[in-house]
Amino acid sequence: MSRPEEVAVEALDEKAAAAELARLATVIARHDRLYHQEDAPAISDADYDALVRRNRAIEARFPALVRPDSPSLRVGAAPAEAFGKVVHPVPMLSLDNAMEDAAVVEFLARIRRFLNLAADAPVELLAEPKIDGLSCALRYEAGLLVTGATRGDGTTGEDITANVRTIRDIPQRLDTGDPPPVLEVRGEIFMELEEFRKLNERRAKEELPVFANPRNAAAGSVRQLDSAITATRRLRFFAYGWGAAEPPVTGSYHGFLERLAGMGLRVNPLNRICRSAAELLAYHAEIGERRAGLGYDIDGVVYKVDDLRLQQRLGFVGRAPRWAIAHKFPAQQAVTVVDEIVIQVGRTGALTPVARLAPITVGGVVVGRATLHNQDYIEEKDIRVGDTVVIQRAGDVIPQVVEVVTDRRPKGAAPFVFPETCPECGSHAVRPPGEAVRRCTGGLICPAQVEARLEHAVGRDAFDIEGLGRRQVPQLIEAGLLRSPADIFRLAGDPVKQEALAELEGWGKKKIENLVAAIEARRAIPLDRFILALGIRFIGEANARLLARHYGTLEAWRQAMLDVAGGDEDARAELADIDGIGPRLVEAIAEFFQEPHNIAALDDLAGEVMVEPVAAPAGGGSPFSGKTLVFTGSLEQMTRAEAKALAEQLGAKVAGSVSKKTDYVVLGADAGSKARKAVELGVETLDEAAWLAMAGVT
Ligand code: IVH
Repeated sequence: MSRPEEVAVEALDEKAAAAELARLATVIARHDRLYHQEDAPAISDADYDALVRRNRAIEARFPALVRPDSPSLRVGAAPAEAFGKVVHPVPMLSLDNAMEDAAVVEFLARIRRFLNLAADAPVELLAEPKIDGLSCALRYEAGLLVTGATRGDGTTGEDITANVRTIRDIPQRLDTGDPPPVLEVRGEIFMELEEFRKLNERRAKEELPVFANPRNAAAGSVRQLDSAITATRRLRFFAYGWGAAEPPVTGSYHGFLERLAGMGLRVNPLNRICRSAAELLAYHAEIGERRAGLGYDIDGVVYKVDDLRLQQRLGFVGRAPRWAIAHKFPAQQAVTVVDEIVIQVGRTGALTPVARLAPITVGGVVVGRATLHNQDYIEEKDIRVGDTVVIQRAGDVIPQVVEVVTDRRPKGAAPFVFPETCPECGSHAVRPPGEAVRRCTGGLICPAQVEARLEHAVGRDAFDIEGLGRRQVPQLIEAGLLRSPADIFRLAGDPVKQEALAELEGWGKKKIENLVAAIEARRAIPLDRFILALGIRFIGEANARLLARHYGTLEAWRQAMLDVAGGDEDARAELADIDGIGPRLVEAIAEFFQEPHNIAALDDLAGEVMVEPVAAPAGGGSPFSGKTLVFTGSLEQMTRAEAKALAEQLGAKVAGSVSKKTDYVVLGADAGSKARKAVELGVETLDEAAWLAMAGVT
């Protein structure tokens, strides 16, 4: 996709190249996400390939600028491949826990006994927060990061090198003029609470399952097969140890951490040297008080003997060092009663159950509700109104129900029945097979969804109305001026409504005039934008275009979709057969057109605007104009994407499977079942040479 303002790769200087690589990383990551995760590609394969090629070309000119999140480091990686294994040269062990102060006193006493020191001999320990994430080993050879691995079972972990390269606290190269031949840095990967909150918010919006806590979110993120996804998760890292090291690490633990920090690794700034049990306990209390404000989850503090010669002498017992101990914080759990289970309706119509609890203090915060996630979660844990439950708080996250104390269940407490209608608007709430979320079908008539729907309808890819956006839509809804997309156009045509608008804050005469003009300018709208504006699930820009191109006019599309919703098998087959339209989309369309209020809203909007049909197929006069083609087998002269683009240019529709409606099947090498089907149905077949000749390619 050559943008008019795009500078030729050869003409870029280093600064412009770096900026362009940053832009491409973001843009390509977005298209990857739309394509792989949302099934809603926004650009053609050819345009996507052009972006990737441009990125590669710039990287070839400026190899030093290759970004850790560069698309070329992952594009083409086989997505189904599992992670490789990494054997830890020095096992990754774990820590003994102290829950009580007395255990800390005993830990110190044991160290002195073991080292044969007097009971009051000074021993220096470094105290540091215990991060609630997942441990990771980073191997640097001659200062360069060569592997990143998870802990695994302590002996063998998973190779997550590509993913750790996306973490900004982890340098690709140690910042030192004299790097050690080998240094394996160990530490904790974690996700900050703010990032966790945002991630779950995004996931909820995209109707993906949310993570239960930041630790799970961090673990899920480093185990992504596509490191571009990891890059978007903004993971963090604190270093706190080492494994293999040449030369061996000597001196003190705090000195080692200082050296790491000097080489560009991140070390927790809350570390502190303590010289007695009293100082350790004071540290524990102080960090406990600061815990809620740290911005990341910790589950205790760790004390480590600072002198590395003493560490060596102390050694290990079983799988834990004698020279360190984790002093945990009390779990942020409490027991309370479920007073009520209420259903909240989100902006996308998702029904989320929430438990209203008898208020209780957990970790210094009063808690009155807990998320129950979805129907399955309630059923699995069998949570009922009146139940006594154990709840848990992690950081500032909405608390969760850990378990039900079943022997305290009141007599007559009935299993919770998840509603099948929306509590906000009474429309059907449906749960497609295989999905966790039940969703309101009320769409535009559901007050919980109106705002999001209208914002979508006026958005850049749909009606694109200047001066009507995220800030104005809620204001106009509240004033009763907007309830459906058709209201936008009624507003432009109705002076009385405009007077009402003038009463609202921020709406002067000029601004209203501009808005009216902007709305009028969009009264004529291409069919694909109209389809997109309806806000049907899974219909993004690319799918809307496919539908518009296939059906041509609003009337034809509307009727065909009504037929699909009414169970007409031929209509459904025709829709499913459009190359690029997947089964989820077919279901979503059927669902939309099964609700009379959606059809009413569509017709209401269509009555206010002029929907432009798709221009007659290009390539008039070409033998493929208006025909349906299927490509199968591998073509030699051009890629499948190129062939498809060419066919479309010649006015053809390209379908994914052969049916009675297919006009030609183009057979590449090793064509299989589709070729047989063509013969069976008597559809004309072309070999690659015949196709090229008819297409006018010589
Ligand atoms: S030292 C041989 N220091 O806690 C000792 N671990 O319960 C290795 N952790 O697997 C661990 N913060 O994932 C150490 N400051 C810290 C830590 C820490 C978090 C985790 C680490 C380890 C687990 C042990």
